[in-house]
Amino acid sequence: MKAPRVKPINDSVKKNESASEAMIELRGVVKRFSNAAGEFTVLKGVDLTIDRGEFVSIVGKSGSGKSTLLNMVTGIDHPTDGHVVVNGSDIYTGVTESQRSKWRGKNLGIVFQFFQLLPMLTLLENVMLPMDYVDLYDFDERPARAMELLKLVGLEKFANKLPVLVSTGQQQLAAIARAMACDPPLLVADEPTGNLDSRSADTIIQLFEGFVAQGKTIVMVTHDPSLTSRTNRNIIISDGELINETISKSLPQLRHRHMLEFTKIAEEHIYLPHETIISRDQNIDYFFMIRKGEVDVVLEDKKKKESLVSRLQAGEFFGEMELLRGGKSIANVRAGDQPVEVLALPRADFIRVLDESPVTADAIRKIVQSRLEAHKVADQRSTMP
Ligand SMILES: Nc1ncnc2c1ncn2[C@@H]1O[C@H](COP(=O)(O)OP(=O)(O)OP(=O)(O)O)[C@@H](O)[C@H]1O
Ligand SMILES: [Mg+2]
Repeated sequence: MKAPRVKPINDSVKKNESASEAMIELRGVVKRFSNAAGEFTVLKGVDLTIDRGEFVSIVGKSGSGKSTLLNMVTGIDHPTDGHVVVNGSDIYTGVTESQRSKWRGKNLGIVFQFFQLLPMLTLLENVMLPMDYVDLYDFDERPARAMELLKLVGLEKFANKLPVLVSTGQQQLAAIARAMACDPPLLVADEPTGNLDSRSADTIIQLFEGFVAQGKTIVMVTHDPSLTSRTNRNIIISDGELINETISKSLPQLRHRHMLEFTKIAEEHIYLPHETIISRDQNIDYFFMIRKGEVDVVLEDKKKKESLVSRLQAGEFFGEMELLRGGKSIANVRAGDQPVEVLALPRADFIRVLDESPVTADAIRKIVQSRLEAHKVADQRSTMP
């Protein structure tokens, strides 16, 4: 494992980090808890890169390690092993708790399911609190800046109210205004809409979309599929391990444990532009999922004249027809104009998991049907005089 290149945390407030640098980098992150029952490994060696400006959702069953993963990024907890680099700083190596806490105040906004506003302070005072803590704005500027933030989330009329006097949705909006108080480049949210009705949840996601449009990075744990569909990228964690994103994109209805199994056994294959991946009449030993690039499916007529039946993109798959129907390839499959990266699953594993996954099997059968139709049409076209 190679440690990422980093700068000391004390310099991390510099605003002009290079644009190409990732916002979050986790390398080999392990988190183990020990209690009376013994040791328990919650994160089992997580590698993850999140780029600047991404809007990422994290999902997973209860207890899979979502909150623990976020706590590694925020520095609320610390890893047992591995490296965490956030906004260019290694946040655990040679850093004291109090340095990390100051760093967090300037670099991160954090939102939880239960808003954690201070009950004795007004909404305005709650929003000013982080500014006081990191001492980032002039004392006189702070109330006006807090008011601007409350205006942004639609709460200016409630600025002088205590949290108990506004709705739960409004409390969460105030918590978001507070998280953005020091204009952090990264917002981390743990089930921010988990306690809200769908309308309030929608308001919050719209707000997040606005932040992303301004170039902020957002990482959000959620259980709500209607919210994951609005993020640019979805990461699934299963039992402390991340699922390969090509697999979850290609076979979204598979059980998480099957996705994880595939993550461990899938082979990565790379093809040059126009290189043949499968030849007609060849036996197929793999199910292929496209990670990067485009793949052309080409049929040949009796006179060896070729016609393109489909061009597949990242997140699509091929090879399933032959695996399900048994038999040889009916088409030539080639890399498009760019190099292609695929994940290949051995036939026996694919068939075995599909036997236990009726919903996915059904979805794949429908795709096979529509592809066969497309082949038939292409075939008829090619035999026309
Ligand atoms: N401080 C701790 N000490 C011991 N075990 C812990 C601690 N924090 C978390 N765990 C355990 O680690 C596992 C993962 O917990 P975590 O809170 O990360 O799950 P989660 O995916 O966020 O679940 P949920 O959807 O319920 O919030 C759980 O089994 C939990 O009991
Ligand atoms: Mg949690």
